[in-house]
Amino acid sequence: MSSTTKILFTIKDLRKWFPTRTGLLDGIRGRREYVRAVDDISFEIKQGEVVCLVGESGSGKTTAARLLLRLEDPTGGEIIYKGKDIAKAKERKIRKLRRHMQMIFQNPYESLDPRMTIYDVISEPLQVTNVFPKSETHKRVAKALEDVGLIPVSEFSIRFPHELSGGQRQRVSIARALVLGPEFIIADEPASMLDANTRIEILNLLQDLQAAYNMGILFITHDLAQARYLGHRIIILYLGKIVEKGNIDQVIQNPHHPYSKALISNIPVPDPDAKRERIEIEGEIPTAINLPPGCRFAPRCPFQFEKCIEEEPELMMKDGRYSACWLD
Ligand SMILES: Nc1ncnc2c1ncn2[C@@H]1O[C@H](COP(=O)(O)OP(=O)(O)O)[C@@H](O)[C@H]1O
Ligand SMILES: [Mg+2]
Repeated sequence: MSSTTKILFTIKDLRKWFPTRTGLLDGIRGRREYVRAVDDISFEIKQGEVVCLVGESGSGKTTAARLLLRLEDPTGGEIIYKGKDIAKAKERKIRKLRRHMQMIFQNPYESLDPRMTIYDVISEPLQVTNVFPKSETHKRVAKALEDVGLIPVSEFSIRFPHELSGGQRQRVSIARALVLGPEFIIADEPASMLDANTRIEILNLLQDLQAAYNMGILFITHDLAQARYLGHRIIILYLGKIVEKGNIDQVIQNPHHPYSKALISNIPVPDPDAKRERIEIEGEIPTAINLPPGCRFAPRCPFQFEKCIEEEPELMMKDGRYSACWLD
């Protein structure tokens, strides 16, 4: 990837606040509560680049992904796709763009319709978008099946999802995403439900396909080992905010933010003698409602001091990466 590579997405101050149930009632009385699922995040994704979005469950990863594809309407901010802001674009326009951006979901058991054959599952996006001549359907489905290693194609085409293993089903999901020839894919924890060996197979497959088709990928995971395996750049989210972003090797070798340090110190090390200080973070991630004025991570941060509770740190550039911490 060169520095002149095209930028696919520029995300600026993207925000999604969900009103809480009680908040809706309170709204009548003039008080509204929101879950700040995604709270003013900014980043870029270039063509052919794998950007990893990492964070604990509840940090806003899936919401961010759904916003990019406009499966969810943003509360604020810009989603600039190839120079055009699509944050408020109408459904008709978005439908045309969908062909270029596809999503692979976490659970291959839920995401495939059990009554459809594999052929029907994979050809459905072609029928729905209708951008290629009908005469190409068979050829495209066959190529997608081949690309994900489900061969012989004739045999897999006529099977049903329940006849396949978890890994094979996830291959079907990938083929379904590929069949339209997208330039951008979001993979939302695509390997999390799979056993260790199958997980590696799926990650390898994604890596091969990414290189073969020069696709941009937003790879979502709570597992830094998977991120390191696949990614070029990393974005670490905590309660809807980016706490650190930068080149993945740089961030993993020398994280700046205490939350990144804690996540990274907990990656299993292959060599048990390798010295690495483990940083434990106490407690569970809270919900992003009624957030305190300071740093969102402060209540769990082993390094917090007065300023952290009073004032929220902005993302700041240092040593070629961004982090949001008063210690930096
Ligand atoms: N449709 C929704 N309505 C209300 N709250 C939601 C909705 N979707 C997600 N949330 C909340 O937003 C926060 C972030 O969720 P999510 O984006 O799924 O995080 P992640 O994918 O990192 O686990 C969570 O607190 C979640 O409960
Ligand atoms: Mg999620």
